[in-house]
This record gives sequence, C-alpha cells and structure tokens, in this order.
Amino acid sequence: MKIGILGTGSYLPEKVLTNDDLSKMVDTNDEWIRTRTGIKERRIVAENEATSDLAYRAAEKAIEDAGIDRNEIELVIVATMTADHATPSTAAIVQDKLGIRASAFDLSAACTGFIYAYTTGYSFIKAGIYKKVLVIGAESMSRVVDWEDRGTCILFGDGAGAVVLGEVESGGFIGSHLVADGSGACELIVPAGGSRKPANIEAIQNKEIYMQMNGREIFKFAVKVFPETVENVLKQGNITPDDVDLFIPHQANVRIIESIAKRFKQPMDKFFVNLQKYGNTSGASVPIAIDEANKEGKLKKGDKIVIVGFGGGLTYGSILFEWSK
Ligand code: ACO
Repeated sequence: MKIGILGTGSYLPEKVLTNDDLSKMVDTNDEWIRTRTGIKERRIVAENEATSDLAYRAAEKAIEDAGIDRNEIELVIVATMTADHATPSTAAIVQDKLGIRASAFDLSAACTGFIYAYTTGYSFIKAGIYKKVLVIGAESMSRVVDWEDRGTCILFGDGAGAVVLGEVESGGFIGSHLVADGSGACELIVPAGGSRKPANIEAIQNKEIYMQMNGREIFKFAVKVFPETVENVLKQGNITPDDVDLFIPHQANVRIIESIAKRFKQPMDKFFVNLQKYGNTSGASVPIAIDEANKEGKLKKGDKIVIVGFGGGLTYGSILFEWSK
C-alpha cells in the first residue's frame, strides 16, 4: 500500500509584525534582521486566539483540499511546542472543534515536530490501525518569546499547517530519518512551566517562562545535521540531490538554507522559502510551506520532495516522498 498526502491546508493569523515594528520594541533594525535571517515580517495570534484555533483552521482547509468526509479521519496529531494547555492536548481540542470522533494526541519535538508527526501518522496507516490521519503543525510562538530579548523575538512567528494522510494510487512516502540528542536540551528551552520548575512568581520574575536560545549553537547544529539527515533519506530512496525536485526545509534562517544549497550544489530555486513572510513558526513551518508550494502549483505528480526539520531537543530529521496529487 502506498501512503501519501491527500490534502494540505494552512492558516496564518491576520496581525502582521514587521521588522520596523520590532525596531520600536527592541534595539534592532530592519537591515540587521533581513541580512542575518532573511525575515521581513511575521504573523501574531490575536488576543483571543490560541494554538488550537490556528490548527483547527488549517485542518478545515486540508480536509477540504483532500475532498474527504471529515468523519473518515481516525486520528489527529498536533505537533506543537506551544500547546493551549499542559493538559488536555491541543489535538483533543482540535478534534472537538472539528466535530469528529477520532483519537488525538500532541507530539513534542519543537521545530522537527511535523517531521516526527508525519512519520507517526504514516506508521499508524502502514500498521493497518487507521486509514486516514490528520497531521497538524501549529504554533503560537509569540506566547513564549521574550519580547525584550532581541536575540530571539525577531526570529519567531505564529501559524499552522496541516495535511491529511491516507492511501494513494502512486508515489507517497519513501523514507524517514528521525534523531534526538537530548544532551543539547539547554540550547533551546523554556525553563519554567513544567514539572522541573513550576511557573511561579520567581520563574516569572526571572523570565524563565520564556524561551531561551543559544542562537549561534543552533545555527552550527543546523548546518551540521541538515546534510546528514538529507543524505540518509536520499540513500533510502536510492537517489541523489540532483533527483530531488523540491526541498522544503524548516524556515529558521535563509542563511542556513543557502549553505545547504551550496553544500549539495543545488540552485536556491529548488529550496522552498517563505520565511520572509512568516519568520520561524517552529513545528508549523514545514506544513505551511508544503501547503503554499501545493497551492502555488510548485508540486507536480511524481515530484520527489524532501522535507527537513531541526531544532529544540535537540532534534532533527527528514522525510523523502513522492507527490501523488
Ligand atoms: N538586532 C541587532 N543586533 C543584534 C540582534 C538584533 N535583533 N541580535 C543580536 N544582535 C547583535 C549581537 O548582540 C551581536 O553583537 P556583538 O557582536 O556586539 O556581540 C551581533 O549582533 C552578532 O550576533 P550573533 O548572535 O553572532 O549573530 P548571528 O549572525 O549568529 O545571528 C541568529 C543570530 C540570527 C539568531 C542566528 O544565530 C540564527 O539564526 N541561529 C539559528 C537560530 C534558530 O534557527 N533557532 C530556531 C531553532 S528551531 C526551534 O526548535 C524552535
């Protein structure tokens, strides 16, 4: 049985925060942000919105694009590091908003979350447990960034992307590679708000409820592991970088993507980039990019696609698949 993407969807909140807006909040400027990251603007959730609202809207669009009855979905997975609550899962809230009966759980692998979730959804179908799985990456990063820290707040944005996985006639999933290295846990961390350190007054005063990131280390890590994981899935598919039609990488920093293009001796137009519009939306970035590539007609039946994630954990991974729509 071949398993692939039946439909895609995404949702970006309306509010736009530009680099110029940020320069009024912290000591930064448009030129620095653009040249160091490629980011021009990002979207920010409305006050009355949370991650499940973004996820639900992306899911509705993916279901519509798949042209299926929503009741066929048997499992909802939400990859997120900015869940609505510690419990219940965001996926359960989305399942209820969709008005369907389905299993639901969240998956925590930061910016690699969607790569993990896609592989998990695929595995459930491959094992014969479910026939159709809704896989969502959704984040409200603006709720965990420290808006006084110019080293992190300029990078992140909010949004959601979703795919419906199921049986396809041709193409589909070819190979996956998932890695975690918890020795780098402190390189990207929200220290408080969990069982190690509750979100008490002290944690709030110390700003430990916000994300802390070692940008330089994560940059070095990304440039090192990106080629490793891509080479792994290309080997599984017995193909070379030349055979890949489109790379859809995690949208963290255009300099990371450019260095990989150079390393693989591939033109930049084989790498999908939309981070200028949305910044780094963590686990949402890859499914948003898949949806945009799909809607822009950049994906043709039979195309070989590689999606790649890297980030908190530290985690990284990639999937090789053939576009079947
Ligand atoms: N505006 C102006 N100046 C700044 C800013 C800012 N926003 N931020 C830092 N600077 C300054 C620094 O203070 C430093 O000044 P100094 O030389 O006087 O000390 C200078 O600019 C250079 O700082 P660096 O940190 O060396 O800048 P770098 O070129 O490494 O870029 C960045 C920083 C953009 C964060 C980069 O390291 C990066 O993209 N890292 C990867 C981050 C990433 O991808 N994280 C997400 C992982 S995904 C996940 O799981 C959520």
